[in-house]
Amino acid sequence: MDRPRITIFDTTLRDGEQSPGCSMNVQEKLRLAQQLDRLGVDVIEAGFPIASDGDFEAVQRIAGSVRRPIIAGLARACIGDVERAWQALQGAARPRIHVFLATSDIHLKYKLRITREQCLEQARNAVRHAKSLFPKSVCADVEFSPEDATRTEVAFLCQVVEAVIAAGATTVNIPDTVGYSMPEEYGQLIRTLRDKVAGIERVTISTHCHNDLGLAVANSLAGMQQGARQVECTINGIGERAGNASLEEIVMAMRVRPDRYAFETTVASEHLYPSSQMLAEITRVPVQPNKAITGRNAFAHEAGIHQDGMLKNPLTYEIMTPQSVGVPDSRLVLGKHSGRHALALRCEQLGHQFERRELDEVYRKFVVLADRIKKVQDSHLLELIHDVVTGAISHNDAASQARKFPPAAATLPLPRAAAAAANSSSSDLHSAQVSASAGQAQVSIPFSDHHSEQEDYLWGV
Ligand code: KIV
Ligand code: ZN
Repeated sequence: MDRPRITIFDTTLRDGEQSPGCSMNVQEKLRLAQQLDRLGVDVIEAGFPIASDGDFEAVQRIAGSVRRPIIAGLARACIGDVERAWQALQGAARPRIHVFLATSDIHLKYKLRITREQCLEQARNAVRHAKSLFPKSVCADVEFSPEDATRTEVAFLCQVVEAVIAAGATTVNIPDTVGYSMPEEYGQLIRTLRDKVAGIERVTISTHCHNDLGLAVANSLAGMQQGARQVECTINGIGERAGNASLEEIVMAMRVRPDRYAFETTVASEHLYPSSQMLAEITRVPVQPNKAITGRNAFAHEAGIHQDGMLKNPLTYEIMTPQSVGVPDSRLVLGKHSGRHALALRCEQLGHQFERRELDEVYRKFVVLADRIKKVQDSHLLELIHDVVTGAISHNDAASQARKFPPAAATLPLPRAAAAAANSSSSDLHSAQVSASAGQAQVSIPFSDHHSEQEDYLWGV
């Protein structure tokens, strides 16, 4: 039997970008949108066109060049916003207008200063107007979000949702705007909407959960179990305050536990780690080391008992393979003996494809760096690529790199160290899985003691 399909709505470029320090320029947004396309998300919320000229341009450029996914533009529930969003989406193959209006009494009273009746009317009119902008020949794609839905009186929420469906909304999103809800409660809210709202069966119900209590992913999954079929989320879980539900965690929860979450997505999970790295590189906001799925420790095994278990069978301590989420196999360590091909492959895995001349430039700088620090980690490589792309280091590579990349403790991939310690020969499968750790080796050992160039060579660096 076919599993229900979950629409993955990525809002990294809109809600994610609203998090402190995460703003991106038009070029950066376009690059990330192309990566989200490779990743296979269904909807890209490209921005909030009325918010700024930059946001408008980003939505316009993405709409014009990223053709497979739906491109959404956000709008408050008023004519000016809706029309600006529609204008930005003109070139899109599959445009969506996303209208939102707060519905909780707290927001109505203190922020919007309108009554519930006015709120109802405004929501209905904005959706009707959005719908009217689509040509008759295409099916209008209009999403409505009652902001702060989880703190809205349920009867009123049902009334608003019913009104926007009657006005033509095709997706109804239920934001836990302030991350207040508990999983059971959020699931129950989705269930109640399904039970009580006339016409709900005609629309897609969506989750949109913030992480203020660390429950965004749990709430999203609970929503799906109760009938939501779209999930709004961001790469690395970036977003307002404590962030949004993390895309990679939601996707992998479904993939690792189909017994609990029997749903399909079109996400190509091997692009998760490269997407995470690209976002961190663009925003310069690093991923926390213990971040599930994409943190550098997510597949690292430090304790001796764990290393022993991993060498015997990776199933002892890993519930998914690093490769399944695109974490590189660190047996392919990049060092000074690495060739252009290995370097190009790693760059590509990190989301950068270079022309021959550019690759030569990256390679030249890479060799200088590798000569100094022996083993080039992803973070080093991304810095270096950034420098080439922006033309930052030009004359004295060695001197400027010495300042930029101070000598670090060298590291040795786990299978060698662990295998040596255990004096055992691990199978290829084991070493492939044990050694991968989000681009970082797991066991820190000073080079002078344990690591020589000859050893590098023998290990096929
Ligand atoms: O968190 C929220 O309520 C939002 C809406 C605009 C969907 O981001
Ligand atoms: Zn939000």
